[in-house]
This record gives sequence, structure tokens and C-alpha cells, in this order.
Amino acid sequence: MSSSETDPTFGMFTCAHGAEGIVKEAIAEKGWRLSFSRPGFVTAKHDEETTLPTDIFIRTASKSLGSGKSGDADELIDRLIEKLSGLPLPFDQLHVWPRDRAPIGRFDFEPGSDEVSRAVATRIHERLGPDHLRCATANDVAQPSDRVLDVVLVDPSHWFFGMHTASTLPTRWPGGVQPVAPEHEPISRAYYKAAEAIAWSGFDLRPGDLAVEVGSAPGGACGRLLEMGLDVIGIDPAQMDPRIANHPRFRHYAARAGDLPRRIYRGAKWLLVDSTVKPDATLSTVRNIVESRETSIRGCLITMKLGDYERASQIPRWRREVERWRPEKIEIRHLARNRCEVCFSVTLR
Ligand SMILES: C[S@@+](CC[C@H](N)C(=O)[O-])C[C@H]1O[C@@H](n2cnc3c(N)ncnc32)[C@H](O)[C@@H]1O
Repeated sequence: MSSSETDPTFGMFTCAHGAEGIVKEAIAEKGWRLSFSRPGFVTAKHDEETTLPTDIFIRTASKSLGSGKSGDADELIDRLIEKLSGLPLPFDQLHVWPRDRAPIGRFDFEPGSDEVSRAVATRIHERLGPDHLRCATANDVAQPSDRVLDVVLVDPSHWFFGMHTASTLPTRWPGGVQPVAPEHEPISRAYYKAAEAIAWSGFDLRPGDLAVEVGSAPGGACGRLLEMGLDVIGIDPAQMDPRIANHPRFRHYAARAGDLPRRIYRGAKWLLVDSTVKPDATLSTVRNIVESRETSIRGCLITMKLGDYERASQIPRWRREVERWRPEKIEIRHLARNRCEVCFSVTLR
């Protein structure tokens, strides 16, 4: 069928503040024509009816239903209601979130809902009611196949409306950000990053399994692993927080990973790497560990520091390097909690 015979597709995408350039390049290569964008938010049109693209740096993707601009929230909700006429209703879920207003970690910025978007979500949910929405509250985690109505606050008075069908875990989380309720105050933000990496990877971490983290200080990620009931080894020349160091299921090697004998990894099923080391050096350390006869690692979650987004061009080369280890599966994602870095999830045979 020629393009003139199908309806165009309008897409809206969110990503980290600063990653929009890479998202634009990735979708333009797939035939999308770029339209309105802001840091952390991209819209585009495809001349044909097509599925939404995926990419390492795309955090959320929705079919766009248009936008509204007003200082009055109720006016914007009227506009949203107009856009919904003619669509199959009700939606299963309502997800409302703001675009990232700063790079992750800068001024302590973290992605996800904020006070304004939570108030807006409550108001939209109230106004739309059961004719439009099946969910009892806004911003619940969607089930696979749920139809989700998306509202992105590009600014508090400029909203974009869209919809998507939930499938993978990140598409089920409101705004692609995992809702996490820590048992204790996390030791560092790496707690959230590890929680997201573990959930996204689908690795079957079980209580009693042994996990090793390279680059473990001060201990946010180890805190998550301990909370999940694992035995944990942390490798880092820097000191661990005493709450982790004194935990009965934790052992610390105060050294650089490359300086330790392979036997300390014996019995470990899971390897997490989050050291401030250049990606090529990180990969050679991990290769030495996973290819050793003394180890039997099942899955690795490797944080690859980019430094700046231009270095994302190296990702295919790093992927080829990991392919040499003959893994069963490699997945790569710019996690919502990643700064300028990506996570490689590597399933080993
Ligand atoms: C981003 S921090 C890790 C945060 C940690 N994952 C957490 O959950 O709190 C990076 C760490 O990498 C460590 N590091 C740097 N080079 C290393 C190496 N060769 N081996 C092990 N750790 C290293 C640094 O000492 C630093 O503590």
C-alpha cells in the first residue's frame, strides 16, 4: 500500500534531559519526521500507519493525540476530553508525568512524578470518570495489554496527550519510571538504579543467591540486593557505609576488581558492575571474570559510563565485544535512573 493510502502516525517520546538528540537521530533513521521537541521530550510524524519505534534511549513512546496550552487545568482537561471522542473507551489506565526538567542527578533531580503532576493526575482522573477510565486511581502500574492514556506535562501549562498499550515492564510503569518503596532509607541513589536494572532485566534473583558488585561503595545497590535476601560481595577500594559493611550477609574486598583472584567469584550467580571506569576497561574486567573456569555467573548488569551522549556511538562496538563472550542474550537500555550511562544486561549460558 502506498503512503497516501494509510493514515499517518503521530508519536511522542520521553527520554532523559540531554538524550533527545540521540532519540531524534534514532527515530529519523526509521522514517519519522521530527516535530515539536524540548529537552527530554520529542514528537514526530510517520507518513504511514506504523508501530512506535523502540530505542535504547527512548524511555516512553506513545501515539500522540495532540496537545493543549493553558494556565487553567480544567480548560486543558476539556481539550483532552475532546481528543478522546471517537476513541474506544474506557482506557484501562491513566499515566500522568512531567518531562525531565534537568539532567538526572543534577541539583539532585530524579525522574518521575512530582507534586504538580500528582495533583494534575488526580484532577484528570476525577474529571474523566468511569466513562473514560477503568482504573480506580491514576498512575498505577499497568498490566500487560492494558490500554494506557498518557499525559505528559511538558510544562505545567503545556500538556501532551497520547496512548500506548502496555507490554514490557518499563511500558507498564508510569512515565517509564519504576515505582519503588524502599524498606529503609537508601544509602545512595544507586539503590534505585539497581532496583530498576534488576526488574528490567527479568533476572530471577532469589534469596540465598550470591551476587557480586564491582564498584560497590558506598552501598546503595548492595542495600537493594541484601533487602532481596541475597548474599553479597562488594568490591571497591573505597569504604562501604557501615550499615552495609556490618550486614551479616555482606563481605567487602577493599580492592580494585582487576587486582583480585578469580576464585573470589566462585559460586556467584549475579554480577553487577557500577565502577567509575572507562567502558573498555570495564568490559575487559568482566570478560576476565565470566570467561574464567572458576566462575559460573548467570547474568551481568553492567553500567557503562558514557561521559557525554556523543559516546553513545560506541555502544554497537561494546555490544560486539560482549557478543564475543557468546552470551545467550544482550539487552541495552538507558534506564530511567541512569545518568549519562547505559545498562547492559547480559544473560550467560
Ligand atoms: C558510582 S560509585 C558506585 C556506587 C555504588 N554502586 C552504590 O550502590 O552505592 C563508583 C565506585 O567505583 C569504584 N571503583 C573505581 N574503580 C574501581 C575498580 N577498578 N574496582 C572496583 N571499584 C572501583 C569507586 O571507588 C566508586 O566507589
